[in-house]
Amino acid sequence: MMHPHSWWQTGVIYQIYPRSFLDGNGDGVGDLPGMKRKLDYVRWLGVDAIWLSPIYPSPMADFGYDISNYTDVHPLFGTMEDLDTLLQQAHQRDLKVILDFVPNHTSDEHPWFQQARSNRTNEKRDWYIWRDPAPDGGPPNNWTSRFGGSAWQFDEHTGQYYLHLFDVKQPDLNWRNQEVRQAMYDVLHFWLDRGVDGFRVDVLWLLLKDEQFRDNPMNPDWKPGDNPSARQIGLYTEDQPGIHRIVQEMRAVVDQYGARVLIGEIYLPLARLLHYYGEQLDEAHLPFNFQLVILPTWGASTVRQVVEAYEAALPQGAWPNWVLSNHDRPRIATRVGPEQARVAQMLLLTLRGTPTCYYGDELGMQDVAVAPELMHDPKGKEHPEHSRDPQRTPMQWESSPNAGFCPPEVRPWLPVANDYQTYNVVAEQHDPRSFLTLVHTLLTLRRTLPALTVGSQQSIDQQNPTCFVYLRQHQDQRCLVALNFSAQDQIVTLPGEGQGRLLLSTRLDREGFIPLSEVHLRGNEGLLLEVEASSLPGEYVRRQHVLHGP
Ligand code: GLC
Repeated sequence: MMHPHSWWQTGVIYQIYPRSFLDGNGDGVGDLPGMKRKLDYVRWLGVDAIWLSPIYPSPMADFGYDISNYTDVHPLFGTMEDLDTLLQQAHQRDLKVILDFVPNHTSDEHPWFQQARSNRTNEKRDWYIWRDPAPDGGPPNNWTSRFGGSAWQFDEHTGQYYLHLFDVKQPDLNWRNQEVRQAMYDVLHFWLDRGVDGFRVDVLWLLLKDEQFRDNPMNPDWKPGDNPSARQIGLYTEDQPGIHRIVQEMRAVVDQYGARVLIGEIYLPLARLLHYYGEQLDEAHLPFNFQLVILPTWGASTVRQVVEAYEAALPQGAWPNWVLSNHDRPRIATRVGPEQARVAQMLLLTLRGTPTCYYGDELGMQDVAVAPELMHDPKGKEHPEHSRDPQRTPMQWESSPNAGFCPPEVRPWLPVANDYQTYNVVAEQHDPRSFLTLVHTLLTLRRTLPALTVGSQQSIDQQNPTCFVYLRQHQDQRCLVALNFSAQDQIVTLPGEGQGRLLLSTRLDREGFIPLSEVHLRGNEGLLLEVEASSLPGEYVRRQHVLHGP
């Protein structure tokens, strides 16, 4: 029988920030040879795919998100051969490899931009977005960069401004130009032909801009010191008419290669986000769902609300996904605290849909305070409080100096966390109650329990407002997840008779049977229980709805 689900539906994605994973050549920066040495760890952990933030040639103005050659590997990270062997060795271990695809902008050092800026009649001129100065000589409109300041940079040589929604060294490509589209689709073909299993597409919702270049409304709630990316309402720079056609075109390229995946980085309100699945489910397989990343307050009712709203709004046949952290946002353990972070991991790994785990989160890693003089992130240069360096620090492998990330005598590109002797892979692998043991166990259970990978999901009503309880079921298998979002002990009374078999506590210190009528949860504890159908009232035991394949 054909497997009705694709690997990217049943699997778990692990995001690697290549600069920070493992330094294989002793220069203080992570690289592909380092990554290859850790494939067995990744496999052991129990994830199914790795997504690498960009590894292409780049002047590193935005740490690889400013690409000067889309079809090569930066020497800092290794060679094309290293990438090929990484692919091969990953595939041998049944791990998929997803690359980052950055189509909105190139580096200003990309030959295309070098040509475009050489003169106004160059054939590549229209590949970027050029405008005449406003009558007073200033920028053509009020658009602001998501890193702060105007989004326009004056080019003395040709007397026009170019657009950069990010750093001045990241000129935006003109996606209304057919040649640009073709060139970028050729890039997709190049990597698909080499065997990559899919792409995470950077800022997919920003590719098109208003044809009339109208001013964006300013965000009335924004105050100096707030995140510069929220300064304006992106009415004319985000989610523009015509964008869905482009996503369909990208998907069509990926679909030529069978079971590959297209993931979109999209920060939009739910209804607009979900459009990126495509009306015929012919756009992104997984438009990243950042609801849990942007949640203003972490709590049982807010989480329940976003989970239910998302489930209810998902188009028929669309596959859900969940994210807790990434290289742009504070780590989950910093946002919710180290104790509650265990509950967050249980949530991520038991919700319906594909989870994406950020490297180091499995150790309980927290953001690391980086002194202003050691900061690298262009976003943090003006406003250190918005720097993304704290969530990009080296992976903590062991208790030796530099946490085993790079040789002891070498200075890592960002500082290693002070608490690395407690939070590191080796120490945590030896501790049966560590954060890593919890994540590893969750991933193992997820793999062995179809209820957790392909089962339906349903919230369970109960009276305690600090806890969120839900049921996952597939055929005869039923799993209850009960999460305590408070630091105090709680009791939840579940409907139904009988007992549940405790498969896992986030504290990893108990098992056995628990009466459903009185489930005791300690502060910041989550429980995973297996229950018999006969223990649940009829309304919760229902036939599985037909699950649609990809
Ligand atoms: C995305 C990336 C971020 C980068 C930006 C510009 O949001 O995740 O790291 O700075 O795009 O490419």
